[in-house]
Parts: sequence; structure tokens; C-alpha cells
Amino acid sequence: MSFSQIGVVGLGIMGAGIVEVFARAGHQVVGVAESEAAVDAGRSNLAKSLSRAVAKGKLTQDQADEITSRVSFGEDFDLLANCDLVIEAAPEILSLKTEIFSKLDAAVKPTGILATNTSSLSVTDIANATSRPAQVIGMHFFNPAPVQKFVEVISTAHSDAQVVSSIVELGKSLGKHLAQITDQPGFIVNKLLLRYLNHAVQILDSGQATKEQMDAAMRELSNYPMGPCELLDLIGIDTCVEILKTIHADTQLEIDRPADGMVNLVSAGNKGRKSGSGFYDYAEKLDVPTDANVDIKNQVHNDLLIAYLGDCIAMEATGYATKADIDFGMKLGCGLPEGPFEVIERIGLDAVRSAQAELAQRTGIAAYQPLPL
Ligand code: 3HC
Repeated sequence: MSFSQIGVVGLGIMGAGIVEVFARAGHQVVGVAESEAAVDAGRSNLAKSLSRAVAKGKLTQDQADEITSRVSFGEDFDLLANCDLVIEAAPEILSLKTEIFSKLDAAVKPTGILATNTSSLSVTDIANATSRPAQVIGMHFFNPAPVQKFVEVISTAHSDAQVVSSIVELGKSLGKHLAQITDQPGFIVNKLLLRYLNHAVQILDSGQATKEQMDAAMRELSNYPMGPCELLDLIGIDTCVEILKTIHADTQLEIDRPADGMVNLVSAGNKGRKSGSGFYDYAEKLDVPTDANVDIKNQVHNDLLIAYLGDCIAMEATGYATKADIDFGMKLGCGLPEGPFEVIERIGLDAVRSAQAELAQRTGIAAYQPLPL
């Protein structure tokens, strides 16, 4: 299968980032969004990202112009007719995605592959909205898409094996590391990441720590590129709430119910960077969060890290993903300096299990217990 022309539907942060990834790799790209304003926003996101690369000396102006010249934008799905692959990057609402896929099914040539960048929704449900479920697949990028080097390729029971392997090869040609997985809510990375982010907001809601203490703890004590509240703002708190709803519907665990602190911010229109404010206000340039309270930082760092490592152990034990896929996902998808299984190797599995038992006992939350031996 050859992929000369790529379509992207939805030109928010992720959609515009995906347009850039493909255009940089030499593909012709058509970006489609639902309104003139959304198309303009996508065009301007691409221009900003390329200007940043030019300013940093990573691209010449000529190269940036050449990349831009490979991209066309519009509002009409018919522009996607000749695409070999169309990737949908619309908001996390199943009814919206199924509507888009049924329109894509009608507009795109019969041999075209349709992919969703859904963060957690059922790829199977999305595939079922088309007459070509064998050619529908999940292709999940991470934010910022041009920076993060990981992509999850999600197949369903309908997926054609050749479609899956062609998408994996295509992903590799973009310089990404791929994990090939089946269709489960949150896939690998979001299942782990969103529970960690939700845990942080639950701690914040309980008044045990401030957002600055939490963000400083994870930056300083684990060298994460961002703390949890900063990352929620980057991803979009509304998106995170939607992902958590899907995961919660599956697990029915209280720890996966979207924390009030997030739900309240979204209700007030504070969705994170994209709306100008979330946990932080982006009207002016922000300093890196700091806090001098070492005890609180140690406590929240311990609790967030141990719960997350326990989730990684549990995911691997189900056979859904390998240690290597989980480590690559967290490092290359989220920019973490070490994969969770590298951390477990460093601090020792017994120490992690004892800390899990202590966390479960102290909080009274059974979900934090280590797996039975
Ligand atoms: N678009 C393009 N490039 C960008 C960018 C953007 N929006 N933001 C940053 N960059 C590039 C910069 O140009 C720079 O490139 P260079 O190394 O070639 O010069 C590089 O990224 C580093 O940028 P900065 O120096 O400006 O800033 P930082 O060093 O603070 O890095 C960050 C910013 C890359 C966002 C880093 O903080 C990070 O990796 N954070 C974690 C992000 C994360 O976890 N993402 C995954 C979220 S989950 C997800 O997306 C799944 C979804 O389904 C919810």
C-alpha cells in the first residue's frame, strides 16, 4: 500500500500536529475542519509550530515553506476523496466520531484506510459506523505530535492484517516507535497516564497538596518534563474528563471517576492552555512551579509514583502490553526520563509492593493493593 496523500479531519492541537508530522515526512496532506474558523486555527497552529522550528534553527525558512506548500485546507469532506489514509482527530465524543466516519466512508475512495486518533473510545464502535470496518484502525499520537515519538496502532476484530502492517510501516517511516495493540479503553498510555493525572487532582481536591507542590514534586523528584496539573492543561482538561469517563465506565473503580477539580474547571470554561487558563492562567509566561515544602513533595511523589507503578505491573500482568511497550509508551509518548519497569528495576519490586500495601492501608483504597503473589 502506498500513502502519497493523507487526510486529517479535525484541526485542533492534535489534528494540526498530525498534519505537520505527515507534511514534514514529505506527504501531501489535506486538512479538513467543520468551519472556516476551525480551518484558520489549524492553519495558524501549523504556521506557529513551523516558525518556532525556524526560530530555533531546526528548519530553514525554505524548508518550512516547502512543508507548508504540501498542505491544503478546507471544510468539505469531498476534498478527501483521493486520500490513501484519513486520520480523524475530532473531540472525544463517540456520536461525533461515528458521524464523521460515516461521512468519510461516503467521501473517501473505497481503497482508502480510515484511522481514528481517539484517546480512549472504542475503535470497534467507530469502525462499525462504516461499510469498510476491515480498513478502519486506531492511530493514536501524543501531544505535541511533532515531538512525541510514540504511536499506538489499535486493531479491532475486523481489521485486515495487511492494513495493520502497512500502518505500522507508515508510522515507522515517520520516525515513530509503534506499539501494536487491541481495542481497550485508554489503550496503553492513556489508561496509565489518566489514572495518574486523576490521582493528582484527587489529592489536590482533598487539600493535601497544592498544584505547585504536586508539579514541583514530579518535576524535581522524578525529572518529569511537566507536573500533572501542567500536563492536564497541555492535553486539555475537557479531553481528560472524557477519557476518564470512558475508562471509568469500563473499570467502575472510584479512582477512575473524573475528579471534581477537573470537572469544575471544565464547567467554568477553563479547559487548559487552549482556552487560556486551566489549573494555571496562560495570559502571561509562567515560571516553572516550585515549592519549598520537602515533606509534602516527598509524600505526593511517593503516592503518585507508587500507584502508577502498581498500575503498570497490573497492566503487564493482564498480557495486554509488554514491559517494553509500556516503557516505550511512557518515555516516547510522554517524555518521561525512565520507563516504569526501569524504575521498578532500580528501586526493587519488593520495595514497590510494600509501598503499594502501605498506600492501600493508609488511604483505605483497595485498588492500590499489590497483585496477589
Ligand atoms: N509543537 C511542535 N513542537 C513543539 C511544541 C508544539 N506544540 N511544543 C514544544 N515543541 C518542541 C520545541 O520546538 C522543542 O524542539 P527542539 O528540541 O527541536 O528545539 C521541543 O519540543 C522542546 O520544547 P521546549 O524547549 O519549548 O519546551 P520543553 O523542553 O518544556 O518541552 C514538551 C515541552 C515537549 C511539551 C515537554 O514538556 C513534554 O514532553 N511534556 C510532556 C507532554 C506529554 O506528556 N504528552 C503526552 C500527553 S498524553 C496525549 O497526548 C494523549 C492524548 O490522547 C491525550
